[in-house]
Amino acid sequence: MQQLIDVKDAARSVWARGDYDAMLRTEGLYAVGEELVHRLDVAEGEQVVDVACGTGNAAIPAAAAGAQVTAVDLTPQMLEVARRRADDAGVRVDWVVGDAEELPLPDGYADLVLSTFGCMFAPRHEVVADELVRVLAADGRLGLCAWTPDGVFGEFFRIVAGHLPEDPEFVDPPLALGDEFRVRELFEGAGLTLAFERATFEVVHASVDAAVACYADNLGPVTQARELATADGRWPDLHAALTDLFARQERADGRVVVPAEYLLVTGRRA
Ligand SMILES: C[S@@+](CC[C@H](N)C(=O)[O-])C[C@H]1O[C@@H](n2cnc3c(N)ncnc32)[C@H](O)[C@@H]1O
Repeated sequence: MQQLIDVKDAARSVWARGDYDAMLRTEGLYAVGEELVHRLDVAEGEQVVDVACGTGNAAIPAAAAGAQVTAVDLTPQMLEVARRRADDAGVRVDWVVGDAEELPLPDGYADLVLSTFGCMFAPRHEVVADELVRVLAADGRLGLCAWTPDGVFGEFFRIVAGHLPEDPEFVDPPLALGDEFRVRELFEGAGLTLAFERATFEVVHASVDAAVACYADNLGPVTQARELATADGRWPDLHAALTDLFARQERADGRVVVPAEYLLVTGRRA
């Protein structure tokens, strides 16, 4: 379907924008990948797949734990940065340009399938869930993180989406993967025992302005929203909405401390 190809081409070019790695380092969000690897008890020699891996948030700590890691992402520019980070960390990961909806891996390949804030941005969550299950070994484990719709980043992504071109109807809203009921539905009948937790990671920015600039300069979808909003005169509205969002998280010392809530889904195939 040409529309689906167009959606994926657009996603690839959006995620190539900005400096995603710089944003994650500022936020300290690489700690979430480390925590996920720790929680799932990734062990030496296990086959791990990081889906929509970006710059290797889960892949690199999994490789550091001794796993054989394959990391898949739609956006080659993300993988270039990931490769550099893995070299710096002295770990080996197979970085593969590929689609979460069509993983380039055989059935039953993975002891563990992980995704931090990745699968949520693929267009069709049902197709993605089927793929995650397909590549999971008979006794495999699953670990997924996605921003919750009612958390601060849920509100953040809704504001940004309001300044981006509307997706075709078949595209699932990314935040749906942060909704426990939807995730249960997606994996129903897959033979997985799932556990759900609302986890919170504290994202700290030096100030409200620094928070807005961090995302407007570095996070692909926000850089695009800013560009479009600037062209049609709506950047002051978008800027004001983001400023208001972060101002609500401002502390007396001027820092912004965001309780970034995400849904942590862990599962095991029986
Ligand atoms: C918010 S980033 C998350 C990256 C990383 N997992 C992390 O925790 O930082 C979303 C990632 O999803 C990737 N992505 C979007 N659609 C995809 C798809 N259909 N298949 C694979 N990757 C996809 C983007 O290229 C981007 O790297």
